[in-house]
Amino acid sequence: VESGNTVFSAVLGSLQYGYSLGVINAPQKVIEQHYGRSLGCSLRNETKCACVTDWGMLMVNVLAVIAGLLMVLAKMWKPHVMVIAGRCVMGFYCGLSSGLVPMYIGEIAPMAYRGSLGTLHQLAIVTGILLSQVLGLEFLLGNDYYWPLLLGLSGAPAVLQSLLLPLCPESPRYLYIKRGMVEEAKNSLRRLKGEYDPSADLEEMRREKEEVEKEAQVSIAVLVRSSLYRQQLFVALMMHLSQQLSGINAIFYYSTAIFEKAGVTQPVYATIGVGVLNTVFTMVSVALVDRAGRRTLTLIGLGGMCICAVAMTVGLVYLRVYSWMSYVSMSAIFLFVCFFEIGPGPIPWFIVAELFSQGPRPAAIALAGCTNWTSNFIIGMTFPYIEALCGSYVFILFAVLLFGFTVFTYLRVPETKGKTFEEIAAVFKKGRKQTPGTRKTGTGTGTGTGTSTELEQLK
Ligand code: GLC
Repeated sequence: VESGNTVFSAVLGSLQYGYSLGVINAPQKVIEQHYGRSLGCSLRNETKCACVTDWGMLMVNVLAVIAGLLMVLAKMWKPHVMVIAGRCVMGFYCGLSSGLVPMYIGEIAPMAYRGSLGTLHQLAIVTGILLSQVLGLEFLLGNDYYWPLLLGLSGAPAVLQSLLLPLCPESPRYLYIKRGMVEEAKNSLRRLKGEYDPSADLEEMRREKEEVEKEAQVSIAVLVRSSLYRQQLFVALMMHLSQQLSGINAIFYYSTAIFEKAGVTQPVYATIGVGVLNTVFTMVSVALVDRAGRRTLTLIGLGGMCICAVAMTVGLVYLRVYSWMSYVSMSAIFLFVCFFEIGPGPIPWFIVAELFSQGPRPAAIALAGCTNWTSNFIIGMTFPYIEALCGSYVFILFAVLLFGFTVFTYLRVPETKGKTFEEIAAVFKKGRKQTPGTRKTGTGTGTGTGTSTELEQLK
């Protein structure tokens, strides 16, 4: 049975994303010294930010390998140019894989496990972060000698994935629905699930093929302008915004500095502690998400993070008066991360595929990913400045945002656990006024079977 291997190979993309994300935190000082030497000056904030956030977005494994090589060889030329170039190339890869992996898993996951399997994407991301944090320790690779290797290793999962993916069976849905290859789809199902009678699965795919044929692909421009999808799109984008504007990456990019400020003597180990808890609580989410539901876990997560952000502020503000306040801020940071991984971390990544039917799904995932990375970039770039401005009160800003997102989730986010696409679509249809000229279609996978007149007009 190869389904485990297949999901493992797929989420190697997410592992790489996490590794790239976490790797810059601990060895920041060592790398800065190198930049400083090659720039002949001390580093200003701008360069630090570029280093943290420049992974933007890009593609496929070739890019990841090129990026890895640029970083491994950083000392051979101007290190700051090599590292920034490598991180840019890697960024494109991360952007792509953060859309492709959840979409692929969504496609092969049975309904009852859609949440847990979807959360594996986040689990691989956090494992990557943890790995990068451990390897970034000074006595391992986070030192003057090995840092290029530390950064360059972010290309390694791509090599492994390139070796493994060809051995994995082709997606049966792709074979049957896109290429009409029934026999090959059967074989692939048997490779994934073991020796069994695949007729029920084939029947399900036949029905889905019918739906797909009825529903045209919806472009991003049409998706944005159509009132048919407005509510789902709003919910999807708000969930991605809440993930990023919660301030989680302020912790991940700058935790070592934040811990230092909170009076922790060994900040690097505290950062690794964050990584461990992060991983453990993502596992908790894998176990809970198909039972407790997406809405409940998101609400608990955002609400808990809001309280932690307040506690963190109290800890930082009163640190000078009471030294034990450092424990308050440290515990608040740890709990903040735990609440994040319970729901607001993993859920936005896979819920978009649940909210949209086949036609508009790729466009919705692309838009959601773009929103995610743009807000990630903005927080990464501006956090040091906002912190300089607000000092110890910086997390109050996130507390206010988190409160708003908690209320939004309570009012607007429906539960998608255990529901078919038709049922999820029905929830949104109830809330939507019938737009003039919108023809109801009978089959209703979706939030819009794309044959309505409105869609026609928008094209
Ligand atoms: C999510 C976020 C990412 C964040 C990570 C932390 O995957 O998208 O930006 O760094 O969680 O675990």
